[in-house]
Amino acid sequence: MGVLDGKVVIVTGGGNGIGRECALLAGREGASVLVNDLGGGLKGEDAGSSGPAEDVAKLIRDAGGKAISNSDSVSEYDAVAAMCEQAKKAFGGLHAIINPAGILRDGMFHKMDPADWKAVIDVHLHGAFNVTRASIEHFREQQSGSYVLFTSTSGLIGNIGQANYAAAKLGVMGLSRIVAMEGLQKNVRSNIIAPFAWTRMIASIPVKDEASAARVERMKNGMRADQVAQLAVALCADGAKDTTGQIFAVRGNEVFLFNQPRPVRAMARLEGWTPESLIEQALPAMKASYTDVGASASVFPYDPV
Ligand SMILES: NC(=O)c1ccc[n+]([C@@H]2O[C@H](COP(=O)([O-])OP(=O)(O)OC[C@H]3O[C@@H](n4cnc5c(N)ncnc54)[C@H](O)[C@@H]3O)[C@@H](O)[C@H]2O)c1
Repeated sequence: MGVLDGKVVIVTGGGNGIGRECALLAGREGASVLVNDLGGGLKGEDAGSSGPAEDVAKLIRDAGGKAISNSDSVSEYDAVAAMCEQAKKAFGGLHAIINPAGILRDGMFHKMDPADWKAVIDVHLHGAFNVTRASIEHFREQQSGSYVLFTSTSGLIGNIGQANYAAAKLGVMGLSRIVAMEGLQKNVRSNIIAPFAWTRMIASIPVKDEASAARVERMKNGMRADQVAQLAVALCADGAKDTTGQIFAVRGNEVFLFNQPRPVRAMARLEGWTPESLIEQALPAMKASYTDVGASASVFPYDPV
Protein backbone atom coordinates (compact mmCIF):
# COMPACT_ATOMS: atom_id res chain seq x y z
CA MET A 1 0.00 0.00 0.00
CA GLY A 2 1.43 3.39 -1.00
CA VAL A 3 0.10 6.92 -0.46
CA LEU A 4 -0.26 7.32 -4.25
CA ASP A 5 -1.91 4.00 -5.09
CA GLY A 6 -4.09 4.39 -8.16
CA LYS A 7 -2.81 7.90 -8.98
CA VAL A 8 -1.21 9.05 -12.21
CA VAL A 9 1.56 11.58 -11.65
CA ILE A 10 3.68 13.61 -14.06
CA VAL A 11 7.14 14.58 -12.80
CA THR A 12 8.95 17.13 -14.94
CA GLY A 13 12.72 17.45 -14.83
CA GLY A 14 12.63 13.86 -13.61
CA GLY A 15 15.96 12.84 -15.12
CA ASN A 16 18.13 14.40 -12.43
CA GLY A 17 18.26 15.77 -8.91
CA ILE A 18 15.01 16.43 -7.09
CA GLY A 19 12.77 15.42 -10.00
CA ARG A 20 14.48 12.05 -10.28
CA GLU A 21 13.91 11.32 -6.59
CA CYS A 22 10.28 12.52 -6.83
CA ALA A 23 9.64 10.18 -9.77
CA LEU A 24 11.28 7.17 -8.09
CA LEU A 25 9.42 7.77 -4.81
CA ALA A 26 6.08 8.38 -6.55
CA GLY A 27 6.59 5.01 -8.29
CA ARG A 28 7.41 3.29 -5.00
CA GLU A 29 4.31 4.87 -3.42
CA GLY A 30 2.10 3.26 -6.03
CA ALA A 31 1.68 5.97 -8.69
CA SER A 32 1.89 5.40 -12.42
CA VAL A 33 4.51 7.95 -13.40
CA LEU A 34 5.21 9.93 -16.55
CA VAL A 35 8.84 10.98 -16.18
CA ASN A 36 9.60 14.07 -18.24
CA ASP A 37 13.06 15.53 -18.85
CA LEU A 38 14.52 17.54 -21.65
CA GLY A 39 17.89 15.94 -21.01
CA GLY A 40 19.71 19.20 -21.52
CA GLY A 41 22.59 20.89 -19.76
CA LEU A 42 22.37 22.91 -16.58
CA LYS A 43 21.83 26.17 -18.44
CA GLY A 44 19.17 24.69 -20.70
CA GLU A 45 21.65 24.43 -23.54
CA ASP A 46 22.02 21.42 -25.91
CA ALA A 47 19.37 19.77 -28.03
CA GLY A 48 18.72 17.41 -25.13
CA SER A 49 18.32 13.69 -24.98
CA SER A 50 15.55 11.30 -24.06
CA GLY A 51 18.08 9.27 -22.04
CA PRO A 52 17.70 10.65 -18.50
CA ALA A 53 13.88 10.50 -18.42
CA GLU A 54 13.76 7.01 -19.91
CA ASP A 55 16.51 5.78 -17.54
CA VAL A 56 14.40 6.83 -14.55
CA ALA A 57 11.20 5.39 -16.05
CA LYS A 58 13.04 2.09 -16.55
CA LEU A 59 14.23 2.07 -12.93
CA ILE A 60 10.59 2.43 -11.83
CA ARG A 61 9.46 -0.38 -14.17
CA ASP A 62 12.36 -2.61 -13.07
CA ALA A 63 11.20 -2.15 -9.47
CA GLY A 64 7.75 -3.39 -10.45
CA GLY A 65 6.12 0.01 -10.99
CA LYS A 66 4.47 1.66 -13.97
CA ALA A 67 6.28 4.43 -15.83
CA ILE A 68 6.73 6.01 -19.23
CA SER A 69 8.99 8.83 -20.36
CA ASN A 70 8.76 12.09 -22.26
CA SER A 71 11.61 14.36 -23.35
CA ASP A 72 9.83 17.56 -24.30
CA SER A 73 10.48 20.98 -22.81
CA VAL A 74 8.14 22.35 -20.16
CA SER A 75 8.60 25.74 -21.79
CA GLU A 76 6.57 24.66 -24.89
CA TYR A 77 2.82 24.83 -24.24
CA ASP A 78 1.72 22.48 -27.02
CA ALA A 79 4.31 19.89 -26.02
CA VAL A 80 3.16 20.06 -22.39
CA ALA A 81 -0.48 19.67 -23.44
CA ALA A 82 0.52 16.60 -25.47
CA MET A 83 2.44 15.25 -22.47
CA CYS A 84 -0.70 15.47 -20.31
CA GLU A 85 -2.62 13.56 -23.00
CA GLN A 86 0.22 11.00 -23.18
CA ALA A 87 -0.13 10.31 -19.42
CA LYS A 88 -3.94 10.05 -19.63
CA LYS A 89 -3.78 7.74 -22.60
CA ALA A 90 -1.13 5.45 -21.11
CA PHE A 91 -2.55 5.23 -17.61
CA GLY A 92 -6.21 6.26 -17.92
CA GLY A 93 -6.02 9.46 -15.88
CA LEU A 94 -3.97 12.28 -14.41
CA HIS A 95 -4.09 13.30 -10.75
CA ALA A 96 -0.97 15.27 -9.88
CA ILE A 97 1.93 17.16 -11.41
CA ILE A 98 5.27 17.68 -9.67
CA ASN A 99 7.23 20.34 -11.57
CA PRO A 100 10.89 20.66 -10.59
CA ALA A 101 12.24 21.13 -14.16
CA GLY A 102 14.71 23.95 -14.01
CA ILE A 103 17.84 25.69 -15.21
CA LEU A 104 20.18 28.38 -13.91
CA ARG A 105 21.78 31.28 -15.73
CA ASP A 106 23.31 33.29 -12.93
CA GLY A 107 24.98 36.66 -13.28
CA MET A 108 24.97 40.11 -11.72
CA PHE A 109 21.90 41.96 -12.89
CA HIS A 110 23.83 44.89 -14.37
CA LYS A 111 25.59 42.42 -16.67
CA MET A 112 22.63 40.15 -17.37
CA ASP A 113 22.12 39.22 -21.00
CA PRO A 114 18.42 39.53 -21.97
CA ALA A 115 18.67 35.97 -23.39
CA ASP A 116 19.59 34.66 -19.91
CA TRP A 117 16.64 36.52 -18.39
CA LYS A 118 14.27 35.06 -20.95
CA ALA A 119 15.57 31.48 -20.80
CA VAL A 120 15.13 31.28 -17.02
CA ILE A 121 11.66 32.86 -17.08
CA ASP A 122 10.67 30.50 -19.91
CA VAL A 123 11.57 27.32 -18.06
CA HIS A 124 10.58 28.22 -14.50
CA LEU A 125 7.64 30.62 -14.82
CA HIS A 126 6.23 29.75 -18.23
CA GLY A 127 6.95 26.08 -17.49
CA ALA A 128 4.83 26.33 -14.32
CA PHE A 129 2.09 28.09 -16.30
CA ASN A 130 2.19 25.46 -19.04
CA VAL A 131 1.90 22.42 -16.76
CA THR A 132 -0.92 23.95 -14.71
CA ARG A 133 -2.88 25.50 -17.57
CA ALA A 134 -2.65 22.38 -19.74
CA SER A 135 -4.12 20.16 -17.03
CA ILE A 136 -6.38 22.36 -14.92
CA GLU A 137 -9.59 21.84 -16.85
CA HIS A 138 -9.15 18.08 -16.48
CA PHE A 139 -8.51 18.52 -12.72
CA ARG A 140 -11.57 20.77 -12.32
CA GLU A 141 -13.80 18.32 -14.18
CA GLN A 142 -12.71 15.38 -12.05
CA GLN A 143 -12.88 17.62 -8.93
CA SER A 144 -9.45 16.53 -7.84
CA GLY A 145 -5.85 17.37 -8.63
CA SER A 146 -2.64 18.46 -6.97
CA TYR A 147 0.21 20.65 -8.21
CA VAL A 148 3.59 20.71 -6.55
CA LEU A 149 5.55 23.60 -8.02
CA PHE A 150 9.08 24.62 -7.13
CA THR A 151 10.18 27.98 -5.80
CA SER A 152 13.49 28.87 -4.12
CA THR A 153 14.76 30.81 -1.15
CA SER A 154 16.69 32.69 -3.86
CA GLY A 155 13.31 34.25 -4.64
CA LEU A 156 11.56 34.15 -1.26
CA ILE A 157 14.59 35.67 0.50
CA GLY A 158 17.11 36.49 -2.22
CA ASN A 159 20.58 35.67 -3.49
CA ILE A 160 23.02 37.91 -5.30
CA GLY A 161 23.46 37.04 -8.99
CA GLN A 162 20.04 35.45 -9.42
CA ALA A 163 17.65 38.25 -10.46
CA ASN A 164 16.19 36.23 -13.35
CA TYR A 165 15.76 33.13 -11.20
CA ALA A 166 14.32 35.06 -8.23
CA ALA A 167 11.81 36.85 -10.46
CA ALA A 168 10.69 33.53 -11.96
CA LYS A 169 10.49 31.79 -8.59
CA LEU A 170 8.37 34.57 -7.03
CA GLY A 171 6.20 34.43 -10.14
CA VAL A 172 5.65 30.74 -9.38
CA MET A 173 4.58 31.72 -5.86
CA GLY A 174 1.93 34.10 -7.22
CA LEU A 175 0.72 31.57 -9.77
CA SER A 176 0.39 28.81 -7.18
CA ARG A 177 -1.53 31.03 -4.79
CA ILE A 178 -4.15 31.98 -7.39
CA VAL A 179 -4.45 28.42 -8.69
CA ALA A 180 -5.06 27.36 -5.06
CA MET A 181 -7.64 30.12 -4.48
CA GLU A 182 -9.53 29.41 -7.70
CA GLY A 183 -9.33 25.66 -7.19
CA LEU A 184 -10.70 25.54 -3.66
CA GLN A 185 -14.29 24.60 -4.59
CA LYS A 186 -13.11 21.98 -7.09
CA ASN A 187 -10.57 20.26 -4.85
CA VAL A 188 -7.73 21.42 -7.09
CA ARG A 189 -4.73 22.09 -4.88
CA SER A 190 -1.44 23.86 -5.47
CA ASN A 191 1.56 24.14 -3.14
CA ILE A 192 5.16 25.17 -3.64
CA ILE A 193 8.42 23.90 -2.19
CA ALA A 194 11.68 25.79 -1.77
CA PRO A 195 14.16 22.91 -1.66
CA PHE A 196 17.72 22.66 -0.41
CA ALA A 197 19.45 19.69 -1.99
CA TRP A 198 22.85 18.78 -3.31
CA THR A 199 22.28 18.40 -7.05
CA ARG A 200 24.15 19.38 -10.19
CA MET A 201 22.39 22.74 -9.96
CA ILE A 202 23.93 23.55 -6.58
CA ALA A 203 27.25 21.99 -7.59
CA SER A 204 27.50 24.74 -10.24
CA ILE A 205 27.69 27.52 -7.64
CA PRO A 206 31.33 28.66 -7.43
CA VAL A 207 33.22 27.87 -4.21
CA LYS A 208 35.26 30.96 -3.38
CA ASP A 209 36.97 30.17 -0.06
CA GLU A 210 37.68 27.43 2.48
CA ALA A 211 34.60 28.21 4.55
CA SER A 212 32.38 27.78 1.47
CA ALA A 213 34.20 24.56 0.55
CA ALA A 214 33.51 23.16 4.04
CA ARG A 215 29.87 24.25 3.77
CA VAL A 216 29.57 22.49 0.42
CA GLU A 217 30.91 19.24 1.90
CA ARG A 218 28.31 19.40 4.68
CA MET A 219 25.58 20.15 2.13
CA LYS A 220 26.42 17.06 0.08
CA ASN A 221 25.46 14.78 2.94
CA GLY A 222 23.00 16.87 4.88
CA MET A 223 20.63 18.16 2.18
CA ARG A 224 19.51 15.48 -0.20
CA ALA A 225 17.04 15.40 -3.06
CA ASP A 226 15.31 12.30 -1.67
CA GLN A 227 14.39 14.28 1.47
CA VAL A 228 12.67 16.91 -0.69
CA ALA A 229 10.85 14.18 -2.62
CA GLN A 230 9.15 12.92 0.57
CA LEU A 231 7.21 16.20 0.90
CA ALA A 232 6.51 16.54 -2.84
CA VAL A 233 4.95 13.07 -2.90
CA ALA A 234 3.03 13.65 0.35
CA LEU A 235 1.46 16.81 -1.13
CA CYS A 236 0.09 14.77 -4.06
CA ALA A 237 -1.64 12.28 -1.77
CA ASP A 238 -5.28 12.39 -0.66
CA GLY A 239 -4.02 12.60 2.91
CA ALA A 240 -2.90 16.18 2.11
CA LYS A 241 -6.37 17.21 0.86
CA ASP A 242 -6.56 20.11 3.34
CA THR A 243 -3.22 21.55 2.29
CA THR A 244 -3.28 24.11 -0.50
CA GLY A 245 -1.85 27.55 -1.25
CA GLN A 246 1.12 26.95 1.05
CA ILE A 247 4.84 27.58 0.76
CA PHE A 248 7.13 24.93 2.21
CA ALA A 249 10.87 24.44 2.39
CA VAL A 250 12.80 21.22 2.94
CA ARG A 251 16.38 21.28 4.18
CA GLY A 252 17.79 17.95 5.25
CA ASN A 253 15.44 16.57 7.87
CA GLU A 254 13.83 19.98 8.47
CA VAL A 255 10.49 20.88 6.90
CA PHE A 256 9.46 24.55 7.03
CA LEU A 257 6.19 26.34 6.45
CA PHE A 258 6.85 29.88 5.18
CA ASN A 259 4.76 32.93 5.93
CA GLN A 260 3.25 34.93 3.09
CA PRO A 261 3.47 38.71 2.71
CA ARG A 262 1.12 40.68 4.93
CA PRO A 263 1.41 44.34 6.03
CA VAL A 264 3.79 44.67 8.96
CA ARG A 265 3.24 48.36 9.74
CA ALA A 266 0.64 51.00 8.78
CA MET A 267 0.82 54.80 8.97
CA ALA A 268 -2.12 57.09 8.20
CA ARG A 269 -2.31 60.87 8.06
CA LEU A 270 -5.71 62.59 8.02
CA GLU A 271 -4.62 65.32 5.59
CA GLY A 272 -2.94 62.76 3.29
CA TRP A 273 0.73 62.36 2.42
CA THR A 274 3.13 64.41 0.35
CA PRO A 275 6.56 63.22 -0.77
CA GLU A 276 8.06 65.48 1.88
CA SER A 277 5.92 64.19 4.75
CA LEU A 278 6.51 60.62 3.67
CA ILE A 279 10.27 61.26 3.78
CA GLU A 280 10.12 63.09 7.09
CA GLN A 281 7.60 60.98 8.97
CA ALA A 282 6.43 57.75 7.37
CA LEU A 283 9.74 56.28 6.22
CA PRO A 284 11.64 56.96 9.49
CA ALA A 285 8.72 55.60 11.51
CA MET A 286 8.60 52.40 9.46
CA LYS A 287 12.36 51.94 9.23
CA ALA A 288 12.55 49.77 12.33
CA SER A 289 10.26 47.30 10.55
CA TYR A 290 12.16 47.19 7.23
CA THR A 291 13.22 43.77 5.97
CA ASP A 292 17.00 43.59 5.65
CA VAL A 293 18.59 42.76 2.32
CA GLY A 294 20.50 39.73 3.56
CA ALA A 295 20.78 36.66 1.35
CA SER A 296 19.22 33.26 1.97
CA ALA A 297 22.27 32.12 3.97
CA SER A 298 21.66 34.89 6.53
CA VAL A 299 18.26 33.36 7.31
CA PHE A 300 19.65 29.80 7.39
CA PRO A 301 23.08 30.32 8.98
CA TYR A 302 23.24 26.88 10.61
CA ASP A 303 23.87 23.38 9.27
CA PRO A 304 20.87 21.18 8.48
CA VAL A 305 19.75 18.48 10.87
N1 LIG B 1 18.86 21.94 -5.50
C1 LIG B 1 18.56 22.97 -4.73
O1 LIG B 1 19.12 23.15 -3.62
C2 LIG B 1 17.50 23.92 -5.16
C3 LIG B 1 17.37 25.12 -4.44
C4 LIG B 1 16.34 25.97 -4.78
C5 LIG B 1 15.48 25.63 -5.80
N2 LIG B 1 15.65 24.50 -6.51
C6 LIG B 1 14.68 24.19 -7.56
O2 LIG B 1 14.32 22.82 -7.48
C7 LIG B 1 14.06 22.33 -8.80
C8 LIG B 1 14.93 21.10 -9.09
O3 LIG B 1 16.29 21.48 -9.05
P1 LIG B 1 17.49 20.41 -9.04
O4 LIG B 1 18.47 20.93 -8.07
O5 LIG B 1 16.96 19.04 -8.91
O6 LIG B 1 18.07 20.65 -10.51
P2 LIG B 1 18.81 19.64 -11.54
O7 LIG B 1 19.59 20.48 -12.46
O8 LIG B 1 19.52 18.57 -10.77
O9 LIG B 1 17.59 18.97 -12.31
C9 LIG B 1 16.74 19.73 -13.11
C10 LIG B 1 16.25 18.86 -14.24
O10 LIG B 1 15.33 19.62 -15.04
C11 LIG B 1 15.56 19.30 -16.40
N3 LIG B 1 15.10 20.40 -17.26
C12 LIG B 1 15.68 21.61 -17.44
N4 LIG B 1 14.98 22.34 -18.31
C13 LIG B 1 13.90 21.59 -18.68
C14 LIG B 1 12.82 21.81 -19.54
N5 LIG B 1 12.69 22.96 -20.20
N6 LIG B 1 11.89 20.83 -19.68
C15 LIG B 1 12.02 19.65 -19.01
N7 LIG B 1 13.06 19.39 -18.19
C16 LIG B 1 13.98 20.35 -18.01
C17 LIG B 1 17.06 19.10 -16.50
O11 LIG B 1 17.40 18.34 -17.65
C18 LIG B 1 17.36 18.39 -15.19
O12 LIG B 1 17.31 16.98 -15.35
C19 LIG B 1 14.32 23.49 -9.74
O13 LIG B 1 13.11 24.16 -10.01
C20 LIG B 1 15.23 24.38 -8.95
O14 LIG B 1 15.15 25.70 -9.39
C21 LIG B 1 16.66 23.63 -6.22
